[in-house]
Formats: sequence, C-alpha cells, structure tokens
Amino acid sequence: METQSEKRVFIFDTTLRDGEQSPGASLRSHEKLQIAHQLAKLNVDIIEAGFPFSSQGDFDSVKRIAAEVEGPIIAGLARTTPQDIEATWDAVKVAKRPRIHTFIATSDIHIQAKFKKTRDEILVIARDMVTLAASKCKDIEFSAEDAGRTDREYLYKVLEAVIDAGATTVNIPDTVGYTIPEEYGKLIRDIKLHVPNIDKAVISTHCHDDLGMATANSLAGVLNGARQVECTINGIGERAGNAAMEEVVMAMRVRPAYFEGCFTEIRPAEFHTTSMLVSDLTGIPIQPNKAIVGRNAFAHESGIHQDGFLKGRDTYEIMHPHDVGLEKTNLPLGPRSGKAALKAKLVELGLSIQEETIPDLFDAFKLLADEKKFITDTDIANLAAPFLVSPHAV
Ligand code: KIV
Ligand code: ZN
Repeated sequence: METQSEKRVFIFDTTLRDGEQSPGASLRSHEKLQIAHQLAKLNVDIIEAGFPFSSQGDFDSVKRIAAEVEGPIIAGLARTTPQDIEATWDAVKVAKRPRIHTFIATSDIHIQAKFKKTRDEILVIARDMVTLAASKCKDIEFSAEDAGRTDREYLYKVLEAVIDAGATTVNIPDTVGYTIPEEYGKLIRDIKLHVPNIDKAVISTHCHDDLGMATANSLAGVLNGARQVECTINGIGERAGNAAMEEVVMAMRVRPAYFEGCFTEIRPAEFHTTSMLVSDLTGIPIQPNKAIVGRNAFAHESGIHQDGFLKGRDTYEIMHPHDVGLEKTNLPLGPRSGKAALKAKLVELGLSIQEETIPDLFDAFKLLADEKKFITDTDIANLAAPFLVSPHAV
C-alpha cells in the first residue's frame, strides 16, 4: 500500500516554455517574471522557466526567474547537446533548487526523419548527455520526446540507461497528442513494470491536446503511477496545447476517492487570478466554456438550472466558485431564465417590488430577453422601475 507521501503528485508548470510556444504568445522578460511569481503563489512544484539556449532573451529571463522566484524548483529545457546543457545550467544554477530538463526524441519517426540516426546512437546520446547534466546538477529530468509513439522495448532501454546515468525524473511525452487515456495509462503502468530501476526516478506525464485528451491522459497516467504532471495554465501550448493545470488539479480534488487519494499541493484559490494574468499577458483569450476558469464555468442560464441552483447549489455545481478564486456563481438572465432567477436578481440589486406585480415584470423581462443577447443589471433596474414599492428602496 502506498503511503500518503507516495500519493503526492508534483505539478510541473510549463506555461513559460511549452505554453509560450503557442503561436503569438511570446512574452517579454518582465512578463515572464510576473507569471513566475504568480505560479509560486499558486504553489506549483516546478516552473519550467524557458529554453535558455534558444535565445539570449530566453537565457536572461530563465536566469532572472532562477535568481528571483522563491519556492518552486526552477527548470530550464535543453536538447541533448553539451552547448544546450551548459547554457541551461548557467541559467538555472543560481536557483535554490535548479533542474536541468534534457530531451531527445525516441520514436522511429523522429529518429529517422529528424536525426537520420539509429536507435542505438540515440540511446548513447541520451545516456551521455544525462551523465553530463548530472555532473553539474543533482536534479535531472529526461524526456523521451514522442514517447507515445515509441517502440516499447526500446523506450524501456532508454529509460533504464538515463536513470542509471543520473536522471531523477523521467518524462513520458505524448508529444503529438496521439494516445487515448487507457493506452497512455497502460504505457505508464508498463514502464513501472518493465524498467528495472524505475523506483529511482519519478515518472512524469506530458500530454498534448491534439485529440482533446490531454487532461484525461495525464490523469490516467496518475492512476497508473505517474507522480509528476506537466501542464500549463489555461492549457496553452504548442498546437492544440498541453494538459490544463486547473483541470488536472481540480479533478483530483473533486474526486479524491476515484484518484485513490492522489493529491497536489496547489492552492486552487489562485487559479482565477493566474488564469487571467496568463491570458492578459499572452493575449490568448480564455474560451467562455473553458473548464474551471472560463467565464461560463460557474454560470447557469436556463430557468430549470437557475431554480435548482437557488434551491440547493449541489444540484448543478460540483465545485464552489471560491475554491478556484471566484467570488460567486453567476446567474445571467436570458430568454430561458425563470422567475426564481429574476427574483434573486431583484434581491441582489436591492430592488423591492410587490409580489403581485412579478408576473407583469416577468412578461416585460421575457420580451426584452428575446431581443437582447445579454440582459444587464441596468436593464433589470429600468424594467423594475415602474413596479418598485418605493423608487428609492435599496
Ligand atoms: O511535447 C514534448 O515532447 C515536449 C518535450 C520537450 C518535453 O515539449
Ligand atoms: Zn510539449
């Protein structure tokens, strides 16, 4: 049986690296620092601050985050080359807890098309570069890029070799978002069964959302023994994005029994602020129906739902908005809203009207709602004006 600490799932945030790879999302150094401070408030375990060898700007901002942001481990990404590893170490070494994250692709598609090398050559590069990285830093993560499409036996061999060479975390990316939850979960389970030294490393998930499975795949990974999840705020990232941190974390919080007690140390009350900050600074809007952080995630419009919610919020809500940093549930008034929501809005606005005039006000409201997309508080105040008990009643 696993102990409590073995149920702890580490959250590796890659908003500033994979997230910044979203087309058009590029961030300036001071903006990255601002996001990194907010991620520390959210209590993420690891911040992947960037890819230091990729540009002087990225090097500088990773170094600044490593120097100034306290709390999380600060990681930098490096290809498996000595230059990348040197640059990454130079950028992260000022952090209290630095990590070098090095990667190379292990699927035949990548090995042949990108590298024009053999599997054996790739294995040697991976092992030697992890050895080099481990000679500088004690916290080393290795990623087998495109692990989701890598030959299993070969993947086990690569992972065994890099763990022997000093990797303390092995990341299993579904780089192209190709796998399905049962399949990805089995991949993690099989790695636990077939890599002889796997107990010396943390297994990590890194799932992309090309088929909309990134969150489900990450959670399947957790159920099968992964204890680090790589994710981004709002799910931003290369192409369709990465697993959304807020979804992964809240799934474990809302369904602890299903996830067999697996937990994170994230402070979810910071989700709303973090999500807005990332959206504002990257310029990537949050879709209204986005789970957890979308503006409609805690809004009920239909009369049946609004009435049910007002009678007992559990009828239609599985989380409290406070849990994720929102003040309250929203009951927007629209053509499908009922009298219960209209009355609740009058109370909220401090408007008192005679009970017997409610049907007339409701008819007037319905006529307006059929014409307008959004009914505002001012609309309600104007509609209610002729019916007020006292025009000044508040
Ligand atoms: O998707 C991927 O494979 C990556 C690696 C660099 C971890 O982002
Ligand atoms: Zn990725």
